[in-house]
Amino acid sequence: QVEPPEPGELLALAVEIAAEAGDMLLAKRPARPEVLATKSSPTDVVTALDRACEELIRSRIVQARPYDAILGEEGGATSGDGRVRWVVDPIDGTVNFLYGLPDWAVSIAVEIDGEVVAGAVNNVPRGELFSASRGGGAWLKGERQSCTTGVPLDRALVATGFGYDAARRAVQAEVVARVLPRVRDIRRGGSCAIDLCSVAAGRVDAYYERGTNRWDHAAAGLIATEAGARLGGMHGRPAGPDMVVCATPGLFEELHDLLAPLDPERG
Ligand code: IPD
Ligand code: CA
Ligand code: CA
Ligand code: CA
Repeated sequence: QVEPPEPGELLALAVEIAAEAGDMLLAKRPARPEVLATKSSPTDVVTALDRACEELIRSRIVQARPYDAILGEEGGATSGDGRVRWVVDPIDGTVNFLYGLPDWAVSIAVEIDGEVVAGAVNNVPRGELFSASRGGGAWLKGERQSCTTGVPLDRALVATGFGYDAARRAVQAEVVARVLPRVRDIRRGGSCAIDLCSVAAGRVDAYYERGTNRWDHAAAGLIATEAGARLGGMHGRPAGPDMVVCATPGLFEELHDLLAPLDPERG
């Protein structure tokens, strides 16, 4: 079996592809993008450019590394022949993209043996491409990123998001109603990847969300941890579909402990 390349090499390719995909989206985004189809619910939309962007990203990965596996939101999973897997969200923040709000991102992560070693998140409208490789720190425009430290929960600015399923949303609304009085304020930015990059940059103190997929948080999760944050799920589990919590150590535990009894699917 061929040894996978160094994380830095994989990161360079992820950054290159995320930049190219972002340029394509900027060039081709119509003034009013149209909903092409809905997926899990009427609010779960996809546009033609979500699909075109993922196709571009997949073709670039296959050109450069034909034996790697790929998992993408729109195109599903292809198996590879080795230890490397790419995890792609072509547009994270599709609803923002649809409405012309300025926070949507191309997110590309690279895993070796299931562990994320490189991540690029390109917030296209803001011209901000965040990147990180395992052990190499988190970066934006040549500046190393670091999350806030020493912020207690009652002074924390906390980002969160809501899924597309109505029943889940009802529960998420109940949870956020209990969190809001305990923190400085809540932000709902509309992109999980950008929320996690905001933790990395110290623009918010923490993030939590139930029901995200691996392509939402794989790249930005590494960016946040390389910026000093802790990333995890509930009760010591890794970040996953049941919960992603991200904050500097200390605040992470405070937020986790606030969420634990509120969450009906705990256990
Ligand atoms: C969504 C965004 C949103 C989050 C949802 C995700 P999409 O991804 O990240 O912020 O709250 O859970 O599904 O559909 O825009 O790629
Ligand atoms: Ca997403
Ligand atoms: Ca998406
Ligand atoms: Ca989507």
